[in-house]
Amino acid sequence: MFTRPPGFTYKKDELHCDGVSINRLAKKFGTPLYVYSALAIRERYRTLERAFHHVRHTLCYSVKANSNLSILRLLAGMGAGFDIVSGGELERVRRAQKKALKKVVFSGVGKTADELRLALRNGILLFNVESEGELELLATCASELRKTANIALRVNPDVPAETHPYISTGLREHKFGVPIGNARELCRRAAEHKYLRVAGVSLHIGSQIGDVAPFHLAMERAVELVMQLLADGHNIRFIDAGGGLGISYNSAAPLDFTDQAHRYAEAITEPFLRMKKPFPHLLLEPGRSIIAPAGALVTRVLYLKRNGNKRFTIVDAAMNDLIRPSLYQARHEITPVTFTRARSERVQSDVAGPICESGDFLARDAMLPALTPGENLCIFDAGAYGMSLASNYNSRPRAAEVLVEGTRVRLIRRRETIKDLLQEEAACL
Ligand code: LLP
Repeated sequence: MFTRPPGFTYKKDELHCDGVSINRLAKKFGTPLYVYSALAIRERYRTLERAFHHVRHTLCYSVKANSNLSILRLLAGMGAGFDIVSGGELERVRRAQKKALKKVVFSGVGKTADELRLALRNGILLFNVESEGELELLATCASELRKTANIALRVNPDVPAETHPYISTGLREHKFGVPIGNARELCRRAAEHKYLRVAGVSLHIGSQIGDVAPFHLAMERAVELVMQLLADGHNIRFIDAGGGLGISYNSAAPLDFTDQAHRYAEAITEPFLRMKKPFPHLLLEPGRSIIAPAGALVTRVLYLKRNGNKRFTIVDAAMNDLIRPSLYQARHEITPVTFTRARSERVQSDVAGPICESGDFLARDAMLPALTPGENLCIFDAGAYGMSLASNYNSRPRAAEVLVEGTRVRLIRRRETIKDLLQEEAACL
């Protein structure tokens, strides 16, 4: 039987989240159900914090990874800032903790004028500008509102990072950032605008990156640029190193997070500390590395079936609840919530949901013990990009979410109802 990092552990053959039985949670709140461990979130946040203790820094948690208000509030309470990419995410931060708005960085290639104005009015920390057009629009909005915007150009460092092609961002062929070679000229132009202040450089090379070397290389390029910008007379106060640190989705190849966080911090801060003092303030935008292992998706077995030689375990969660396996060929570990030694013999089976597409699966060829309809399964490492990518495809209401802290359980999002789904629509004709 495998053990999991803090958060999810077997006690007497039954999986628990912190001090609470997952079968009990499933019974009380129904399935599919997202379960998060507050303990694990706090621990991972603190581990990252400690790894960067030697430099002035702020962890700006990437809201897109999991944007539940209670999770944002928990992190804000620990001092986190936030990385946002839309007006909706900005509103979430505002509702989670108003004063955290001062620690918000705004990334994204398609910010609209309304979103820029909203962010200006809310006095965020930094706009990570991704194009010349955005720079001009931001200048117009800022002077309309007479609010000064701190900007960091998001540069594309042209650094390859081994990850799924959909979530790699740091190459010239990707839509993100401006070519690093154009940055000086753009900053010169930005500085001519009365309401823009060139305050930093930002980058983000991709997500689920296991090797720390690409972070080092990207930071070397960013530092080189910062030195040029300082020489050009800009007051560069921030370097935003983005997010992207990967996790291990495979419990047979576990990663010690303390060790990994230290290697990551070393890779990023080594080029950074080569600059002259005073060092800029380092910003980081971690999402997955904080929240992914702290959350799991609990689902109930509906049917067991065989088509020829192939076995299928049909469960009540589907690709609309967790799209990562279908979209990125991600492999999330799945185990029964009740696990006895007598059940150690494994059979190969696909775990699939009720959605009408062959692409709807949660695992392909998983090795699972013989299962019984009605029992619960736990899909691990689903805390990041699980619920935040959930949809209503096939008119399926989205799952409920609970946050467990010790033995305390909080329902942090109630299960959607069919009524919720239909209320925005009109049958006009
Ligand atoms: N900063 C920026 C500008 C980003 O685009 C992202 C993620 C992050 C920070 C956070 O990256 P993290 O630390 O979580 O790797 N849905 C995909 C991942 C998409 C990542 C998008 N950007 C998945 O499920 O793997």
